[in-house]
Amino acid sequence: MTLGETFTLANGVTIPKLGLGTWRIDDGDVARIVRKAAEIGYRHVDTAQAYGNERGVGEGLRASGISRTNFFVTTKLAAEVKTYGETKKRIEGSLRSLGLDYIDLMLIHSPQPWAEFREGGHFFEENLEAWRALEEAYSAGKIRAIGVSNFEREDLDNLLNNGSVAPMVNQVLTHIGNTPFDLIDYSRSKGMLVEAYSPVAHGAALADANLAALADKHGVSVAQLCIRYCLQLGLVPLPKTSNTAHLRDNAALDFTISDMDMATLKGVKNTVDYGEAAAFPVFGKKRKSAVESAQDFLFTTDRMKGMN
Ligand SMILES: NC(=O)c1ccc[n+]([C@@H]2O[C@H](COP(=O)([O-])OP(=O)(O)OC[C@H]3O[C@@H](n4cnc5c(N)ncnc54)[C@H](OP(=O)(O)O)[C@@H]3O)[C@@H](O)[C@H]2O)c1
Repeated sequence: MTLGETFTLANGVTIPKLGLGTWRIDDGDVARIVRKAAEIGYRHVDTAQAYGNERGVGEGLRASGISRTNFFVTTKLAAEVKTYGETKKRIEGSLRSLGLDYIDLMLIHSPQPWAEFREGGHFFEENLEAWRALEEAYSAGKIRAIGVSNFEREDLDNLLNNGSVAPMVNQVLTHIGNTPFDLIDYSRSKGMLVEAYSPVAHGAALADANLAALADKHGVSVAQLCIRYCLQLGLVPLPKTSNTAHLRDNAALDFTISDMDMATLKGVKNTVDYGEAAAFPVFGKKRKSAVESAQDFLFTTDRMKGMN
């Protein structure tokens, strides 16, 4: 049932409530997974320039045989791109890689380039430049909705006060134990729909004994509990999976978490150990020394094409 449900963005565009995350799925594998997801009923896919798999996502959508207009495709402008000219080129690049005539939603991936994530700089002028290029592509009908990701209040204010089009979406790290309630409320008060990335805590929630006990009580899996939690908060969860059984599991959400259990889950404090993923900026500490950041950056760029 959830797969057929939608939210409506500020500009009237509808967006399926549940999306498929594709970070860390190789370009060579993602077409098969997107096609399988489409067969199960998914109509919403989240990718990014940084994931290096836009080509495969587009291939999977076409291979599904389902009409383009039935899908909602999100991509993200690489966090390092902060000029008007380069943003224009990158929008065209995404359209080409995806093999699509239009993108449903395009987000600025992060207010800071990853190497400087949450180091204190806000890149206000630079984000306005990128935003202007996104606004133009939106006006030209190349993108149906535009938004941001990982934006904090002051980053949102910058676009709201100085841009022409208000962001329609803020995609943020949200899962049980790490839910930015103030930012969610603020984004909503400014008309944005909030998307929850890493709703299963990048997999770390699966090892939590308390969540396992609560999931058992409902007769569901921990992943289902995590995804349902986001939906009941009115968020768009974007769980990633490469596994067909998990694709089905993550969309079988026909149960309700009671108000009392929701209150308990909202109160859980972040005790999540992201493991090796803690090396990625979005799962790292808020403030780091320059040396640590440089080490992370080297580790990250060495290991991965792009980020989150
Ligand atoms: N905007 C940003 O900066 C940003 C950052 C991070 C992520 N994202 C987006 O959010 C998406 C999701 O986040 P994420 O990839 O970090 O992690 P996630 O969705 O929270 O968790 C994914 C992990 O959970 C496992 N999993 C999923 N469903 C499962 C199930 N039913 N049973 C058991 N295990 C299950 C997956 O393994 P299997 O594949 O084996 O199922 C994978 O290891 C990303 O793919 C990306 O699209 C955006």
